[in-house]
Amino acid sequence: MRYTNGIMEKTAAPPISKVTLARTNRLAGTVVLPGDKSISHRAALFNAIATGSATVSNLSPGADVVSTLRCLQQLGVTIEPGNRQGTYEITGLGTRGLTEPNDVLDAGNSGTTLRLLSGVLAHHPFFSVLTGDASLRSRPVYRVVEPLRLMGASLTARDDDRRPPLAIRGTELYGIEYTLPVASAQVKTAITLAALVADAPTTIHQPALSRDHTELMLRAMGAVVEEDGLSLTIHPSDLKAINVEVPGDISSAAFWLVAAVCHPNAEVRVLNVGVNPTRTGVLEVLKAMGADVQLENPRTSGGEPVADLVARSSQLKATEIAGDLLVNAIDEIPILAVAACFAEGATVVRDAQELRVKESDRIKSIVQELGRLGASVEEREDGLVIHGGQPLHGATVESHGDHRMAMSMAVAGSLAKGETTVLDTTAADISYPTFWETLASLSGKEARA
Ligand code: S3P
Repeated sequence: MRYTNGIMEKTAAPPISKVTLARTNRLAGTVVLPGDKSISHRAALFNAIATGSATVSNLSPGADVVSTLRCLQQLGVTIEPGNRQGTYEITGLGTRGLTEPNDVLDAGNSGTTLRLLSGVLAHHPFFSVLTGDASLRSRPVYRVVEPLRLMGASLTARDDDRRPPLAIRGTELYGIEYTLPVASAQVKTAITLAALVADAPTTIHQPALSRDHTELMLRAMGAVVEEDGLSLTIHPSDLKAINVEVPGDISSAAFWLVAAVCHPNAEVRVLNVGVNPTRTGVLEVLKAMGADVQLENPRTSGGEPVADLVARSSQLKATEIAGDLLVNAIDEIPILAVAACFAEGATVVRDAQELRVKESDRIKSIVQELGRLGASVEEREDGLVIHGGQPLHGATVESHGDHRMAMSMAVAGSLAKGETTVLDTTAADISYPTFWETLASLSGKEARA
């Protein structure tokens, strides 16, 4: 946008990024993944509020984690890039040591940045405002406002406290007992971070087990986090900085696993994949579909289970994704919907209302875009029914500005008959900036821009 005499001028819209792809005879190769996005946010933020310095390596290069790093720098944290790409030295300020930012904190497209930071800012004795891009500003924030207010925090958000921007004036907090209305790791983490400095322990009851990277990492940093079934009790604790080697992102691996199992002539090896059991729903779903995905070299890295995965061409059958499995595979539904198009029978996705408040309304985005490729997909209030076995044909599809939709549609396009153009492909930069190079190298040809 340009300004003349203080008046905003209309300028031509920037050109829309797009990629055109087509099916290749073979899909093969070895993939090195970007660092896990969820673990990267936590490694940066938790070390920033710990005491001491730590090295974080293989940090996600995605724009979401860059948003977290920028916000932390605005809050006074020193973050220095190391010699190797993806390596950063973070000097923590302690659980009470952040300083007032002199501008609004912009979380960009990242719900994790905004919600996790709200838990830390709730008790810092200064004023801060968290905002984000148009997508993030349309996403729910009352889910953190309510529990943090019960802890004594002073927060206000736009649209009757429903959506960002979120304004916070930090204050002393009380320990509470709280039942999460949705199985959200972001909300669980926001409350947990606030609980570290509350006057008494806090207990959180979860409706289902969401990803537990927070619990694992905070314990490794010295916090007392007790677990009793689906309940967590967090005791007021200080944190000690720890080095973290971030494993590869299973949510990014999912694109290659599905591409390989749906392609008639494929073998893809994905190295160093984080296989924390709260994240492996995608592997369980693919197994239930009859996919040939093998787990090799299981090991532990930085307190998280890691393995290599090998996926080969498979005959798929339909399955059902609901309940705890849905929570465990929540970010992989767009790409699993692509797999369902290649399976025999109707795949049903239920209990997935949360998909409506992700980076796009993913239920609507999937129905619309897979429909353009010739798939038969029914929309349900809380999910999808995907009738497999209809051959996909090339078309022009949109990402809805949603990174996981951009990459899922690219995989669908590279399996469809004829040419597919994916519009607004820069969305993939949110979690996987090198996605297009990897797709080209597995396909043995250049993706055309
Ligand atoms: C995330 C938790 C999930 C997930 C998101 C990342 C995290 O969201 O969808 O991509 O890092 O905690 P919810 O906690 O809102 O379910």
